[in-house]
Amino acid sequence: MTILDGKALSTQLIDSVKEKSAQLSPTLAVILVGENPASMAYVRNKRRACERAGIEYQEFNFSTDITQKELLDKVEELNQDDSINGMIVQLPLPDHIYVPEVIRAINPKKDVDGFHAYNLGKMFLSSEFEDLPPATPSGIVKLLDHYDIPIQGKEVVVVGHSNIVGKPISTMMLNRDATVTTCHIFTQDLATHTQRADILIVAVGKEKLITADMVKDGVVVVDVGMNRNSEGKLCGDVDFEEVSKKASYITPVPGGVGPMTVAALILNTVHATERQKQ
Ligand code: GUN
Repeated sequence: MTILDGKALSTQLIDSVKEKSAQLSPTLAVILVGENPASMAYVRNKRRACERAGIEYQEFNFSTDITQKELLDKVEELNQDDSINGMIVQLPLPDHIYVPEVIRAINPKKDVDGFHAYNLGKMFLSSEFEDLPPATPSGIVKLLDHYDIPIQGKEVVVVGHSNIVGKPISTMMLNRDATVTTCHIFTQDLATHTQRADILIVAVGKEKLITADMVKDGVVVVDVGMNRNSEGKLCGDVDFEEVSKKASYITPVPGGVGPMTVAALILNTVHATERQKQ
């Protein structure tokens, strides 16, 4: 069994753009609403990665009582500001904010999270048009590629159908000619699907959703989950201790997909800047 070391690869990828970044001097703007501890931790990691890559980082903090209009106005201001090359709005947002409208407001050329319908739609066409792909799916593909894990012709089972992970990673796997099954909360008998997987990608947010009896020997496991267990420790959606005994490759939590999301964001930011300056 090999651990898919997202932490190490992330550092390597971030270091690989330093030179380009020094030429382009990109700026990333991050909008954070409220004080959700997980969001604050993610944003801190993004800031550190920017510092390492030589990307200027600007953070805009708002309290949870911000209105839809105030948030949209901030996005528009950053759209108009030529010194800002990339912009992300950290999710989740408070319940009174209508997220699709916020994402739609971001200039697709600055949408380094790859959440805008324009970027998602382009990705749908083929891997060639994955120009600003969503950060987490993009990070997963880079991790599999780095370890030379073949995708073409493989049975890929994705558990979770969110717009930011499940749906786009299913599309990216299809772009690479996998046979893709996307499971979700309404899937009947999840185990019959996961047991067929050559590559199992889980993005649900439920501790120990995937147990050893649900996977076959030699499976490649990518765990996108980020949960706290009863002892307060970070854990994924997969019972790592038991499933790792059957897996050929598996991502740890933390240190697997999380850092790869950050690396993909950095690469998208440099790429977006390059495009804008062409
Ligand atoms: N919340 C969880 N993951 C992400 C992400 O990749 N980007 C943003 N903006 N918010 C998130």
